[in-house]
Amino acid sequence: MTNVGAALPRHALEEKLYKEYLPDYIGGGLNAVRPYFGTMWFQSNWGYEESKHSLVLMEYLMRSKKRTPEQMFDLQQKTFAKRWTTPFQSCRQMTIYGCFQEMATFFIYCRQREVAKERENDHCLWQIYDFIGRDEIAHTRFYQGVVKVLLGEDRDGTIKDIAHVAKNFRMPGEDLIEDYDSRINVMREMGDIDRNMFLQKVYFPVLKQLGVTRAELVRVSRAARAEPETAVA
Ligand SMILES: [Fe+2]
Repeated sequence: MTNVGAALPRHALEEKLYKEYLPDYIGGGLNAVRPYFGTMWFQSNWGYEESKHSLVLMEYLMRSKKRTPEQMFDLQQKTFAKRWTTPFQSCRQMTIYGCFQEMATFFIYCRQREVAKERENDHCLWQIYDFIGRDEIAHTRFYQGVVKVLLGEDRDGTIKDIAHVAKNFRMPGEDLIEDYDSRINVMREMGDIDRNMFLQKVYFPVLKQLGVTRAELVRVSRAARAEPETAVA
């Protein structure tokens, strides 16, 4: 490997790494929602939009000479060696997961957009993050809309799933990316999310958008604990 890219804004590369698993995200997502035409249609379009994010980050890294095409190829080969599997079982839980994950991604892009501008004076990267962030918040709003419908169908069951997904939430790359711990330090420095940030910037704002109160979460969680052990819906 050459030294090209030693001084690159590393978060661009880390974001690219996340997107390398897109075929698994699309495949897993489509399988989770395959009985429902509307969500499957969204999932297909979602995959198209996310693939454009991957392309623009790759083009940025190569055209700005932060990475060579050979380095990008090496990166792809390494990451394709692992597979991402869906972290939750049901369509409803995966929809809630999508809601949190997209909001977390939006928040990360907003922070990285400011890093690109203020620390690096990189207007091109700022603009890329700005465009991608707009897609991410649109994805969040769609998932929130679906979760609202699910709440209308079965409020307590959906709230139970919200609590379960939030408790077990992990960003997709955590189980996949090699030397994730050292990479996450870079990403945190550049605006990535830890548990506390997740609660403040993702979980509570999403609950507010959904119209779910903490009192409801406590009530449903207590009721669930009092029930005999059953599989989560
Ligand atoms: Fe997204």
